[in-house]
Amino acid sequence: MAIINSSTTVHLLLFMVATVVMVAADLHRLNHPVKADGSISFLAIGDWGRRGLYNQSNVAYQMGKVGEEMDVDFIVSTGDNFYDSGLVDEQDPAFFESFTNVYTAPSLQKQWYSVLGNHDYRGNALAQLSPELRQRDNRWLCMRSFIMHAGNADFFFVDTTPFHAKYFKEEDQEYDWRGVLPREDYISQVLEDVDVALKESNAKWKIVVGHHTIHSAGVHGNTEELVDQLLPILLENEVNLYINGHDHCLEHISSSNSQLQFLTSGGGSKAWRGDVNPWNLDEMKFYYDGQGFMAGEITEDDLVVSFYDIFGNVLHKWSGSGGLHREW
Ligand SMILES: *[C@@H]1O[C@H](CO)[C@@H](O)[C@H](O)[C@H]1NC(C)=O
Repeated sequence: MAIINSSTTVHLLLFMVATVVMVAADLHRLNHPVKADGSISFLAIGDWGRRGLYNQSNVAYQMGKVGEEMDVDFIVSTGDNFYDSGLVDEQDPAFFESFTNVYTAPSLQKQWYSVLGNHDYRGNALAQLSPELRQRDNRWLCMRSFIMHAGNADFFFVDTTPFHAKYFKEEDQEYDWRGVLPREDYISQVLEDVDVALKESNAKWKIVVGHHTIHSAGVHGNTEELVDQLLPILLENEVNLYINGHDHCLEHISSSNSQLQFLTSGGGSKAWRGDVNPWNLDEMKFYYDGQGFMAGEITEDDLVVSFYDIFGNVLHKWSGSGGLHREW
């Protein structure tokens, strides 16, 4: 390949991925092509990069099978992409060992859209964001906060780690806060950008993706900063789904007073913690403490999510057509 400067490389790569539309808003916007009938399908997975261990390879194998049956268009990663401490640099062999060499099925050779998790911030966060990684594996695309349009759905990816005040006080843990400080300015900009982008969206289905939980009965529980700061924006803008990782489980919590569904897909590798907190049973639709992943299918009329275990069993399925929630 000819030597070209890095901004040209970024443009070329993004063009290969999707069509880039740069607008006045600060968030990067991408378009993902839809199927001929206008629908899309995707898989969502989080908390995965452990060189195939802790059932990561089994999850990957089932993702490959389900991905083929559903002819998925792309994969969403909810973060904590590389354990324990992200990537060291763009050359880090963990990128191949935990990503390229694990998700090998033909159906998974699609665009991955990833956010950073707290474990990613413990390493070189900029390395995961670097276009150099896309040259090593062109499926890879990780940004802090961005928007992806896909037919009837708009996906809003939010960088949630900087919201968590605790990480800024930990003395025994290093985080790569380059590009994030001062923290208050950074998070208020993210909130404003997401709010503006949601208000501008004409999509029928609005889906927000972040690493951290808003509502979860798992060991990490609710993320209070996101409950206080992000949740009101999601409710005001009638977001349909919030998809996160962080708790290493599969989970669906509904809302009694809105259409918003809280979906955790954090079962990409290490799981089976064995401690679940009590939750209002009217809202708790599903909780699975083991490994697996989530699948989504979106048409103009319906949005269906399914959770799969490593054997390919559908553990839970939910459809959200027009606010009428059907359950299986
Ligand atoms: C792998 O998955 C199986 C089946 O769910 C489970 O019994 C086993 O404990 C898992 N192994 C690990 C290391 O989590």
